[in-house]
Amino acid sequence: MLDKLKEIEKTALESLASVRDQSALDNWRVGNLGRSSALMSVFSELGKLSKEERPVVGQAANRVKIALESALAQRAEAVRAAALAKSLEEEQLDVTLPGRAIQHGRLHPSTQQLRHVLTILAEMGFQVYSSREVETDEMNFQLLNFPPHHPAREMQDSFYVQAGERGDNPILLRTHTSPGQIRAMREFASAQPQHPPPIRIALPGMCFRYEQITARSEIQFNQVEGLVVGEEITFADLKGTLSDFARRMFGQTVRTRFRASYFPFTEPSAEMDVECFVCGGRGCPVCKLSGWLEILGCGMVHPVVLQNGGYNPRRYSGYAFGMGPERQLMLRYRIDDIRYFWGNDLRFLEQF
Ligand code: PHE
Repeated sequence: MLDKLKEIEKTALESLASVRDQSALDNWRVGNLGRSSALMSVFSELGKLSKEERPVVGQAANRVKIALESALAQRAEAVRAAALAKSLEEEQLDVTLPGRAIQHGRLHPSTQQLRHVLTILAEMGFQVYSSREVETDEMNFQLLNFPPHHPAREMQDSFYVQAGERGDNPILLRTHTSPGQIRAMREFASAQPQHPPPIRIALPGMCFRYEQITARSEIQFNQVEGLVVGEEITFADLKGTLSDFARRMFGQTVRTRFRASYFPFTEPSAEMDVECFVCGGRGCPVCKLSGWLEILGCGMVHPVVLQNGGYNPRRYSGYAFGMGPERQLMLRYRIDDIRYFWGNDLRFLEQF
């Protein structure tokens, strides 16, 4: 029996010497230390031995088992070290190579400019009010003093979503942010119809017009509308606020001028120009030699519009203005074609 154990130990250790990888290691363990190995059968046969032989063979078998186990542990360590050395050699990594740059996303230039405008207006006390892009003819036109078939509608041709049986009140994509004036006034007034609260809001968002797409006109563009309503609001408030806005936007020394204009929902109406920041007012191709750039439309809210919003025009007055972030960007960066904004060309977008 003792000879047999010696033989078991010898063959096991010999075969272990040729083990080179993890799966051979596992096989070796099962074959030499597993339940049906020769060594384990020695243990199960101990009971058949005589009283004298049993402890001697038992001790010897235990010694062999411990020897095989520690040989296995050593071999496993050697296999691991060899695998590591091999992978270090094969998968060489040069940590001094420059890394691959991560592509950062960015905001669309229109969104950047929209946020810039809203940030300035927020500093001046304007809250953002979001209004819908799909409107009724009533909100987009009639309540703003454009009756059906009024010639002023020709300034804002529309995309109709649903016409037909809706008669004079079809559903359309808003052509300007001004219908938000009515929605906001009505919402504020509904809280306290007898004494509606004052309003100072900015209404941003996409507008749509049925236009031929050219370098100068698109079928969609953003606007930011401003609306201020309260008691004793005057044209001086409009001028002061918009002049201050222009200084914050274009620099403290920029000059502004107001020109009389026409919108059905403001009276009087005006357009504000800023001194051309490309030529400093001397005249250049960007300002078409005039020295001035038109940046927004504005005016005192028409009494009928106040009334339609639930504000009594005998008691309340207000002013409104509307400007286009894309137009501002075009002036500022001398972008000569508005189609770049929705053309999805990264060569354009990545410049911002
Ligand atoms: N809604 C007008 C436009 O789209 C701009 C405007 C807004 C004018 C508010 C006056 C007051 O042209």
